Amino acid sequence: MSTPPSARLEALRLHGAIPRHIAIIMDGNGRWARERGLARPAGHQAGARAVREAVEGALHAGVEVLTLFAFSHENWQRPQAEIDALMALLEEYIAKEAAELRREGVTVRMLGDLDRLAPSAREAVDRIEAHTAGGARLALNICLSYGARAEIVRAARRLAERVRDGALDLDAVTEANFATELYTAAWPDPDLLVRTSGEMRLSNFLLWQVAYAELHVTPVLWPDFGREDLYEAILDFQGRDRRFGRVTA
Ligand code: FPP
Repeated sequence: MSTPPSARLEALRLHGAIPRHIAIIMDGNGRWARERGLARPAGHQAGARAVREAVEGALHAGVEVLTLFAFSHENWQRPQAEIDALMALLEEYIAKEAAELRREGVTVRMLGDLDRLAPSAREAVDRIEAHTAGGARLALNICLSYGARAEIVRAARRLAERVRDGALDLDAVTEANFATELYTAAWPDPDLLVRTSGEMRLSNFLLWQVAYAELHVTPVLWPDFGREDLYEAILDFQGRDRRFGRVTA
């Protein structure tokens, strides 16, 4: 992870306002494979390499939190062979990358309904979370078996339980309290949401958390997404006027 800084990286450092939290909808693996006459798992394989690029780019740029959408609730409905290939890839990624991520100070967390994972995938997830715990440079969240509506319902249930048990007053149910029950409670909301492959959709990703995120949609298919594309997205972000519903001075 020692590539020299690019001109884009220099430019975005000069500007200064690095988004603290970037979330990415990694899309287009299937199309990337089809364009090459390959089977879909080959696209996911190439997609895993792009994950490495994005992590390196985030480290170089000084991003604090990177949240990647790797597998949605809806993805459980894909053909079993594709699900198996994705899970095998995840386990392979963990086996190959855990040591380097730890060395680089990256803390990995997997967010989602992890009870649905097969035992071997679940063990791999627990392993990388334990192995990388405490890394101080970058929080890498990988959303797995994740759906934003399910996350919101889970948070509502957990909050309701606290009220039922007398641990929380109903009047104290606030946006801030609610956010403490989301998977992302430990981190600031994403400042920037990137989606690859040109689709203009949120696809049930971090619906609560992206309320004020800046959106950057690129036509680049995920397997072709490199650190330069991440820097490009940050430069785009730096040109935005973020008002959070207020007016500028
Ligand atoms: C969307 O492309 C991508 C996915 C459903 C899976 C994302 C997985 C990876 C990037 C690789 C594994 C991840 C890790 C963390 C090792 P698509 O299949 O929906 O593409 P399409 O829209 O072109 O069909």
